[in-house]
Amino acid sequence: MVKGILKISQVSKIYISKYSVIASFLTLLFFSSSLIKAESYAVATRHHLATNIGMKILEDGGNAIDAAIAVAFALAVVNPSAGNLGGGGFMLLHLAETNETISIDYRERAPIKSYEKMFQDKSGKVIKGLSLNSILASGVPGTVSGMFFASERYGTIEIKNLIKPSIELAKKGFALSDFQAKNLNRYKEKFSKNKEAKEIFTRPNEFFQGDILVQTNLAVTLERIAKNGKEEFYSGETAKRISNFFKENGGILSIEDLNQYKLRVLDPVCGSYRLYKICSMAPPSSGGIALIQILNILENIDLNKLEHNSEKYLKILIAAMDYAYKDRAEYLGDADFTFVPQELLTSKKYAEDIYQLIQKKKTPSKINVNITEGEETTHFSIVDKWGNAVSNTYTLNTAYGSGIIPTGTGILMNNEMDDFSSKPGYPNAYGLIGSEANKIEPRKTPLSSMSPVIVFRDGKPYLITGSPGGSTIITSVLQEILNILDFKMSLEESSRKKRIHFQHLPNILFHEQFDDSLVESLKKEKRLVNRKLGEIHSILLKEDGIEAFSDERRPDGKASTVYK
Ligand code: DON
Repeated sequence: MVKGILKISQVSKIYISKYSVIASFLTLLFFSSSLIKAESYAVATRHHLATNIGMKILEDGGNAIDAAIAVAFALAVVNPSAGNLGGGGFMLLHLAETNETISIDYRERAPIKSYEKMFQDKSGKVIKGLSLNSILASGVPGTVSGMFFASERYGTIEIKNLIKPSIELAKKGFALSDFQAKNLNRYKEKFSKNKEAKEIFTRPNEFFQGDILVQTNLAVTLERIAKNGKEEFYSGETAKRISNFFKENGGILSIEDLNQYKLRVLDPVCGSYRLYKICSMAPPSSGGIALIQILNILENIDLNKLEHNSEKYLKILIAAMDYAYKDRAEYLGDADFTFVPQELLTSKKYAEDIYQLIQKKKTPSKINVNITEGEETTHFSIVDKWGNAVSNTYTLNTAYGSGIIPTGTGILMNNEMDDFSSKPGYPNAYGLIGSEANKIEPRKTPLSSMSPVIVFRDGKPYLITGSPGGSTIITSVLQEILNILDFKMSLEESSRKKRIHFQHLPNILFHEQFDDSLVESLKKEKRLVNRKLGEIHSILLKEDGIEAFSDERRPDGKASTVYK
C-alpha cells in the first residue's frame, strides 16, 4: 500500500499514480508525517535525460548503485564535455543494510612510460598546452572499470541493461540545448584537430538549439562493452583501437596501461562538524582532507550567529580556505607514492592552532601565479528507497578533455595529466600549484579536487552533494554544507546564494558578483575576479520529506524526487 505525503520541489517531476495521490491526501489528513515510514528516492544530475534514466532504474526496483551506473553511461552520451568513458572519477557510496560508507577511486593513472619532466623542454621550461591539448595529456581512463566494479559488488541489475538506454541515446541522438550547441561551437577549433572529433562535434557552420547529436561510433563501442564486459575496454577491440591510435600519433598510453588499470577501494575521509558526520574522498583527492580541515577551523566559532555572507562571515571563510589550500599545495598527492599527513591535517587540534593564527590576523606567505578558467566535470547525487546513497563526481578534466577521439571509438580522451604539477610551483589549468608530492610518476594518480560528499545526521545520510569546478569544487561544496547545516536553508535557497572562492595561490578572490563595497573590504591585497562558480546537484533527506535540487548556475540539469 502506498502511504505518505508528497513533497514537490520546484524542479522536481514526480512520478505518481492516481492511487498514490488519494492515499497521500488521506495521509495528510489523518497522520503526522513523522509517524509514517516513508519510501523516498531521488536523482539530481547535470542533464535531464540522464536524470530520467536514473529515476526509471529506481522505479523499476534498481538500487542507487544501479541508477548511478546508468546515469554515468548516459552522461557520457548526453553531456560529452564531462560525462565520459575516456576519463575517471570518484564514487562515494553508502550502503544502508551494512551501514558502510565506501569510496571507489576510478580516476586516471599516469601511463607506464610517463616521467617527471615529460612536459618540460630541455631547459626545464614547461611547454604550454602539452599537458592539456596533446596526445600526451591523457591518463589511463578508469570510468569503465569503476562502473563494472560498482555493479559487480553492489548492483542488482545486469549492467548491460544499465548501458542499454545510453546505446539508444548515442544511436538515435538527442536534441542539443541552446547551452550545449553554443558550448560545442566554442570548442570547434579544439575538435578540428582530430578527425573523428571534428566529424562528430562540429558542423560546417555551427550547431543550433534542437540539432540532433548522433554518436554512432560511441553507440557501437557501448554495444561492445555491454556485450563483452569491461575487458572490451581494457583488453578487447576498444583497447586495441585506443592504444593503436596513441602509438600511431606519438602517444605513450599503451595496451599494457589499459591491461593493467586498477581501481582502488578507499576508506573515505570522515570528520565531525557540530552534530554531523561528513565523509568525502581520500587522496588522490584533496577534497576530503581540505573540506574537513576547513570545517574543523570553522567549528571554533558559532557561524550562524554571524550574518550569512556578511563581511565578518566571509573573512573567516577566506582565512580558513587560505590555510587549507596552502597545505593542499604542500602535502597532498597520491598516498601510494607520497606520505600524506592526513591525520594531522584533519585533526581538531591542528584546526584550533590555525584558528588561533587567524585570530591574530596571520596569513600564510604567498607567491604569484596565473589562473585560467576550468569549465567542466560533472557531479550527480542519488538516493534509493532503501536508504542507499551515491555521490559521484567524474570528469575528462577540462571541457571535452584533450579533444582527441581514438579513431573508430567515439570516446573523447581526458587531459588529466595536467592535474599533476608539471614542475614544482608551476600552476595547472586551475592555477593550482603542487610540490614533489604531486609530481608525475608512472602509474601514479594526479591530485584531484573532486569532492563527492555524504553528510550524516544520526548515522543516516542527510545531505548528498558535489560540484564541478576544478579547484573551486571544495569551496563550493563547503558553502553548500554551511548553508544547509548552519543556516538551515533549503537546497534551492542555498543554491541561489552567492559564493566566494579563495585558494591561497594565486592571490585572487573569486566572487559571484558581491557588492563592490563588500568585496573591497574583503580583498586586502588580493586581485578580484567575478566568476560564476560550479553548479551543485544535491539531495537532502529530511525527516518529513526529500529535497533534490539541480543548481541553475548551468542549464539542462534536473532533480527528481519521489516521496511516498
Ligand atoms: O580532478 C580535478 O580536480 C579536476 N580534473 C577537475 C576538473 C573540473 O572540475 C573541471 N571543471 N569544472
